Amino acid sequence: MKSINKIQGKTRLLGLIGDPVEHTLSPLVHNTIEGVMNEASDVQSVYVPFRVDPACVREALEGAYALNILGMNATVPHKLEVIPYLKGIDETAKQIGAVNTLVRCDGGFFGYNTDAEGFMRELDFYGIEVEGKCAVMLGAGGASKAVAYGLAVKKAAKVYIANRTIAKAEEIAAAMNEMLGASVFTAITYEQLSDIKENELIVVQCTSVGLAPDSEKTIVPDCKFYDKIAVGVDIIYKPENTLFMRLCREHGALAYNGIRMLLYQGVAANEKFLGRTVSKEAVEIAARKLEAASGIKRPVVLTGYMGSGKSTVAECMCRKMGLKAIDTDVVIEEKAGMTINEIFAQRGEAAFRDMETALIKELIEKCEYDIISTGGGMPVRAENRKLLATLGTVVYLKADADTIYNRVSGSDNRPLLKEGNLMEKIERMLGERGPLYMDGAGIVIDTSDYSAKEIADELLGKMFQA
Ligand code: S3P
Repeated sequence: MKSINKIQGKTRLLGLIGDPVEHTLSPLVHNTIEGVMNEASDVQSVYVPFRVDPACVREALEGAYALNILGMNATVPHKLEVIPYLKGIDETAKQIGAVNTLVRCDGGFFGYNTDAEGFMRELDFYGIEVEGKCAVMLGAGGASKAVAYGLAVKKAAKVYIANRTIAKAEEIAAAMNEMLGASVFTAITYEQLSDIKENELIVVQCTSVGLAPDSEKTIVPDCKFYDKIAVGVDIIYKPENTLFMRLCREHGALAYNGIRMLLYQGVAANEKFLGRTVSKEAVEIAARKLEAASGIKRPVVLTGYMGSGKSTVAECMCRKMGLKAIDTDVVIEEKAGMTINEIFAQRGEAAFRDMETALIKELIEKCEYDIISTGGGMPVRAENRKLLATLGTVVYLKADADTIYNRVSGSDNRPLLKEGNLMEKIERMLGERGPLYMDGAGIVIDTSDYSAKEIADELLGKMFQA
């Protein structure tokens, strides 16, 4: 990863305008992405915060243009104030009525809104399907328009917007219904939440209630409401698990915080600034940095075919930095009181796969580990791939068939490699599983030509150092 300190004559400036800006995590997101991406990129960029007094927005934009600044994000209180000084704004920003991304164009800046896209990419990341479903938004404040727009684009069948001041919810609902040409959005009060007849709700918590240090508050204290929830998404990410999220889980629902929305609005803005697609690896490394800066601790999850070196690499990483690791195969053997061979022989492969799925769910709820090495078949189930990505930063340790053959040919603790021609089996399974490992991983490391120590060092540098 190149250092952002290597500023050169060709370096382009990006930034954030807001007031205040001292709390912002955007420089971390953009500069981390740049650090990972810039070797493959013609343009090198650096991203800095600019505190801009609300009285000086116009001068700031003119000055930024004069200084050849390539692009900027706008945050509170400038998301509306910038609009009159822009060369134009795109359809999404028009619908949302706010701009968070300014891209240099002929004679000035053009405005976009990537908040809705951030929300939609978060839904995609967690595999939350909105189409045809009933959703509830709690709150009609600043972030709600972007969330409403996202739910509309994702084709929710019905959306309730609950707010204390119903007029504000009505305003958003009316704008969305007009855009859709259909009556999908309905404004309600919090008291009316108990009248909702639908079940399996997707609920998006859009208020600031529950934000640290008020972590024991939620906008909806009525526990019965949580029984109707299938998935809860909180736009708050500090604390990592808000009371809203904890109540969702206690009532059997899935729950996610807002860190991915924050991340993806930045990724989408970065793509607009630099006209590129940010790689999965850059996104996941930026996610880790963002999580660490927000006090969120997620493990590195090692995946890969049998013999790809997961356990050995984990051991090297632990030895070097005193990290805590577990191996899912070992936990499953302990829980079952049987070896993997015995589980396969007595209960069958499907039962083993169910045990794997149950274990990841448990680890998502409560995980005190830094590194998790997984059994080679873990990412084969689509459900597991989603769960693993929720659990931590998934790293696929890739190895070619010859390397794997050399590593596994002496061992007899792998039931799937017991019969038939070993090399043929490895080649066939790698062919089937390779795309699944790739699909499930944020980061891919080719291990064939490297020692476990070299791979451990690379991972420690990428994942555990500031
Ligand atoms: C399996 C891999 C093994 C173990 C089980 C099934 C697989 O783990 O979970 O034998 O399906 O690839 P390792 O990858 O640690 O050998």
